[in-house]
Amino acid sequence: MDHFLYQNGALHAEDVPLADIAASVGTPFYCYSTATLSRHYHLFDEALAGIDHLICYAMKANSNLAVVKLLGDLGAGMDVVSGGEYARARAAGIPGERIVFSGIGKTESEMRLALSGGIRQVNVESEPEMELLDRVAREMGVTVPITVRVNPDVDAKTHEKIATGKSENKFGIPISRAREVYRMAAKMHGLQVVGIDVHIGSQLVDLAPFEAAYRKVADLTGILRADGHDIKRLDLGGGLGIPYERSNAAPPLPTDYGAMVQGVFSDLDVEIEIEPGRLIAGNAGVLVSSVIYVKEGEDRTFLILDAAMNDLIRPAMYNAWHDIVPLVEPPAGVEMQPMDVVGPVCETGDTFTRARPMPPMLAGDVVAFRSAGAYGAVMASEYNSRPLVPEVLVDGENWAVIRPRPSVDEMLGHDRLPEWMNG
Ligand code: LLP
Repeated sequence: MDHFLYQNGALHAEDVPLADIAASVGTPFYCYSTATLSRHYHLFDEALAGIDHLICYAMKANSNLAVVKLLGDLGAGMDVVSGGEYARARAAGIPGERIVFSGIGKTESEMRLALSGGIRQVNVESEPEMELLDRVAREMGVTVPITVRVNPDVDAKTHEKIATGKSENKFGIPISRAREVYRMAAKMHGLQVVGIDVHIGSQLVDLAPFEAAYRKVADLTGILRADGHDIKRLDLGGGLGIPYERSNAAPPLPTDYGAMVQGVFSDLDVEIEIEPGRLIAGNAGVLVSSVIYVKEGEDRTFLILDAAMNDLIRPAMYNAWHDIVPLVEPPAGVEMQPMDVVGPVCETGDTFTRARPMPPMLAGDVVAFRSAGAYGAVMASEYNSRPLVPEVLVDGENWAVIRPRPSVDEMLGHDRLPEWMNG
């Protein structure tokens, strides 16, 4: 459930008509709902009640400072994957002891940043990374808590570009090599082994692959403990999917996921960390866009919007489906017409959807892409020299711009002419 509903025929974000925001900030823009973000955080928190846990929101899904602070204020930790995300988490007031650092290519400077600012744990993904982290920690005179991310070789049954838990994927160390890698880690004086990490992919709509991976992690916990390692914490990654298409059967809920997690791990006396991103932010956001033209092609109608693939890349990149609904509720029983919904960017891939049944649309009408709160704004670019779109946060009747739209001059201001062109 989210808080983007029609009230008196007008699509609202909580208590604010989206048309009011559109009139004030212009389109396109992203809009997020505080109530939905909080609700999703609490759902996970309640689902894991009864087992010691920390929800480390995967900031990559939506890393706006206001969103990060909102979740941090509820008690969330953060899963960061770059020095930039680490800096954002700290700027939003998240203490180091609630930040976990994931990612396969952490650089020395990123390690130094995290170790000097404080870190709950680093999720190590390879032997060379482990060696570098050990050296950096010893040089800095600290001991850094680590887990090793294991690759359980489980098919997450999701889009191939977001599956991470098969042996052919670049993530983690093969679970078959885990004992050897933990033995190596135990000898490194800059590192303190605290647990195991796993993340098998994103937008999973079935619990079975999670459970298969988690059972392997539970078995490994026993083996590593018998080898003498102090495995007290398990980071289970993120990945629980959301219903992008309202007409489809909904994926499992956090409650179902939490029950499964407790079933697998409750006897092990471990602290559980999870790293949900999409489920927290996805349905907490919409992308609002205006119709520029309705264009009749030879055998199809094109709805040309002012938002494009540079603003929301998911359809072009993963063939992802986003529901697209008008801000003005269509009358019941209105005749739908198939339309290709496209953006203005100069490539055919700038197509959000083909032959989508849409109510009658005119230039100037405004639509919302649902489920755009995760992997939307964060994946945007300025392709075609289109300034990044603004972000708005709603809380009840209140709303605020949490990232303004840059002017074209500001965008140009990031470029520099080399000296030899100025003469
Ligand atoms: N933890 C790790 C280590 C991850 O790599 C990810 C996502 C997450 C947690 C959060 O997963 P989530 O709960 O959001 O599924 N851009 C793609 C999704 C890429 C996900 C990358 N890793 C999309 O738009 O579908």
